[in-house]
Amino acid sequence: MAKIIKKVVAKKAAPAKAKKQVKEVKKELEPIALQPLRGMKDILPEDQPYWEQVRRVTERLSRDYGFSRIDTPIVEFSNLFNRSIGEGTDIVEKELYSFVTKGGDKVALRPEMTAGIARAYIQHGMNVLSKPVKLFSAGTVYRYDRPQEGRYREFSQVNFDSFGEQDPILDAQMIQVAARVVQNLGIKAIQIQVNSIGCPVCRKQYKDLLVNYLESKATKLCIDCKRRMEVSPLRVLDCKEDKCSQVAVSAPQSVDHLCEECRVHFKSLLEYLDELDLPYTINPRLVRGLDYYTKTVFEIWSGSEEGRKSSLGGGGRYDGLVKMIGGEATPAIGFAFGVERIILEMKRVQAKPYRAPKPKVFLAQLGDLAKKKSLRLFSELEKNGILVAESFGRGSLKSQLRVANRLGVEMTLILGQKEALDKTVIIKNMISGEQETASAEKLIDLVKKKLKTDNVVVYHDHNHVAEPSQEQEQT
Ligand code: HAM
Repeated sequence: MAKIIKKVVAKKAAPAKAKKQVKEVKKELEPIALQPLRGMKDILPEDQPYWEQVRRVTERLSRDYGFSRIDTPIVEFSNLFNRSIGEGTDIVEKELYSFVTKGGDKVALRPEMTAGIARAYIQHGMNVLSKPVKLFSAGTVYRYDRPQEGRYREFSQVNFDSFGEQDPILDAQMIQVAARVVQNLGIKAIQIQVNSIGCPVCRKQYKDLLVNYLESKATKLCIDCKRRMEVSPLRVLDCKEDKCSQVAVSAPQSVDHLCEECRVHFKSLLEYLDELDLPYTINPRLVRGLDYYTKTVFEIWSGSEEGRKSSLGGGGRYDGLVKMIGGEATPAIGFAFGVERIILEMKRVQAKPYRAPKPKVFLAQLGDLAKKKSLRLFSELEKNGILVAESFGRGSLKSQLRVANRLGVEMTLILGQKEALDKTVIIKNMISGEQETASAEKLIDLVKKKLKTDNVVVYHDHNHVAEPSQEQEQT
């Protein structure tokens, strides 16, 4: 909106122009765009129960499977991402939010979490801890991608990484945890896609074979893949362009060219998955978009009937990463889910979001003194773990009781002028309509007793007492 600023130019020193000049300068202020940046979104209160459910399920599973929480900064030195994810990858080449700070540091917003976590693992000497070191993290990541449904520039990941164990049983356990995450969120129809892309030794030979093949089909590839063929030929295999898919179908497959160690590793993984009764599909075109992977790679796809599959999460082994960025050789494996994608899928399959416990008690007040006292009483109830609703702004008792009815509480505590003076409170049973007067001193115990007798769960602070878990209801 244009704002007119009146600028008074007083020219006392120039008598010839004694007349005061009033100059009107119209300054166009740039309008504030009342929207976030493209590809970024507000998470509104109505969506929060889905987020809360994802938080609860993932935090609980991470604890159950022995993961400790880690949080690393959103901004890191750019070269950490360039080197670990790979210079030739889309994430680094096209999607990194990188900038130079006022102090001259070249930094970037994290496009994923594993590089930062591996950096922290080395920096804090976690290699001396008993292995495997299992770390869980959750937070926002940033990719300057082309936004569309399920693809954002700011999105959230829940991320599980495990350092120090090379046994394929870990690969199977990670896939098991990933499957548990989605199942516990009420997403039953999933597809587990697995592949092995080998180690640097056997991958080199496989890459040579693949490049030879791709060169022979170069005219049939899209422009991007012609470039990819040089810098990261494996990525040609998961190009979504029809013509590239056709070329990929007959391409040599990495699983057929694994060295003995990688072959045995993959075979054992599949045996463990069979043992776990986790159905999987070996997908020879699953190569992942980050360079740090070795051996096992996997993705969890939504199993939508309509055939439109989206990757809810993915990961794999990255045995070379820790050494490559400066630590000692440390085998590792991990995966991440995109939270927005999970929530889209939860909504699509009508999975239950989190339901916060509802207050069973309403506190109504009438008159100035009672109003003053009710604030303290509310806090006493809250301190004692009793969830209470109120509508302090409303004056009339009738309208407060209307709110209490609408909320479906079991009892209303009424504090009027007389009660405030007598140090009593009226307890109204909202179902039978019966009323009794209780002394303020004994009120908390009485309310607790009544809630228990009525077989109502007394609300406790989330930190103290585990609530009946919804995630279990859904398994
Ligand atoms: P990623 O496959 O690049 O892997 O991302 C994991 C998940 O993040 C994807 O499966 C998808 O659900 C979600 N995602 C990716 N890009 C977007 C986007 N633009 N908008 C919304 N959601 C998106 C990784 O990030 C690895 N760091 C996973 C990992 C952990 N590997 C080992 N440890």
